[in-house]
Amino acid sequence: MPMTFPEGFLWGTATAAHQVEGGNRASDLWLMERVPDSGFAEPAGDACDHYHLYPHDLALLRGLGFGAYRFSVEWARIEPEEGFFSGAALDHYRRMIAAVLANGLVPVVTFHHFTAPLWFTRDGGWTEPKSADRFARYCERAARALGDLISFACTINEPNIAVMTSAMRVATEGRAWTPPDSFAEIARRCGGDPARWAPFLACDGYVAAPNLIAAHRKGYEALKSAGLAGPVGMTLALHDLQAEPGGELLRDAAAQLLEDQFLESVRGDDFVGVQTYTRIVFGPRGHVPPAADAERTQMGYEFYPQALDATVRKAARATGCPVFVTENGIGTEDDARRIAYTRRALEGLHAAIAEGVDVRGYIHWSLLDNYEWLEGYRPKFGLVAVDRSTQARRPKPSAHWLGNVARSNTLD
Ligand code: BGC
Repeated sequence: MPMTFPEGFLWGTATAAHQVEGGNRASDLWLMERVPDSGFAEPAGDACDHYHLYPHDLALLRGLGFGAYRFSVEWARIEPEEGFFSGAALDHYRRMIAAVLANGLVPVVTFHHFTAPLWFTRDGGWTEPKSADRFARYCERAARALGDLISFACTINEPNIAVMTSAMRVATEGRAWTPPDSFAEIARRCGGDPARWAPFLACDGYVAAPNLIAAHRKGYEALKSAGLAGPVGMTLALHDLQAEPGGELLRDAAAQLLEDQFLESVRGDDFVGVQTYTRIVFGPRGHVPPAADAERTQMGYEFYPQALDATVRKAARATGCPVFVTENGIGTEDDARRIAYTRRALEGLHAAIAEGVDVRGYIHWSLLDNYEWLEGYRPKFGLVAVDRSTQARRPKPSAHWLGNVARSNTLD
């Protein structure tokens, strides 16, 4: 039975600035990726040169049949020094958003996607109470320059990931967060105090969480007061958190720490962005790893596309907001498994919609094979392959398949 999605349902793909643009020199990760033992497999470097090749990528997206494009504007480019807002960077993003619209695509713009200006991270990043005001000031300036063109805005991408990485460290190392040794070298290179260096992906998430929540609230207000017309929300990393018998208490404690406090903080927003890749199972003694014969993705996660059904229902229930799937996808070299994963995820999404969950769109991660943070360029999340020596793009069968779903608004 073909499954048709609601009229006006948005279909898109996503990227994030640092993962695709290249040359993000004023950012914290540009420095961090170059320090031995920082945990990064390789530096992002030129990435997919999307900073220059976006016109080509947008035309490709339109040709494939998609109707929306989620991407981020890079704070480190827009405010490379505290208080200095680069008119050239803002003009670049204005041209880019205009090109998104000219290609008939709905721009879904994220204001913070893991990277930050070096000056911000050197001074405590999100662990510094001033971070919320700093973020709101940037949002306000960027929205004044770009807001009239933005259809949907996401303040911060997955603020709960900072807590998740800290919690995982506590669970695996059995001790509270301490700065890794590489921070001393980073601080030596950028002239700061190692105790203050706090990049989003490796800071004390327990300290950062309330600041991130405050930053979302202040960022939301700043975007609105600067005249951003479209809906504003936050995106959250949501796993399908499951319990084996006896694991319920641990599952619920993990849910409160990693997800629920953030879901509570977005009640009243215009939408909530759901980003789901897999499930996490808890038993009486903690996390239960996937069965030995379970299929795993290149990230080591269990192949579990059913998770999306559960997370959109939870997000809608917990927030009362309309839901927007702002990321869902799989790291794999086997494109047939990408199609199988996405098909199963969309079946679950359709079932949730059929039962009354208000879901406005589905954005697949990712448009391009890109820089997967600590893992470097090895994992392949893209619908479109990128030859990084020539920057040539090659749409995979999954790009045509999902583009057809988008064009027909129907899953056959
Ligand atoms: C992030 C992306 C990342 C993707 C795949 C999400 O958590 O927002 O930046 O590439 O997951 O791991």
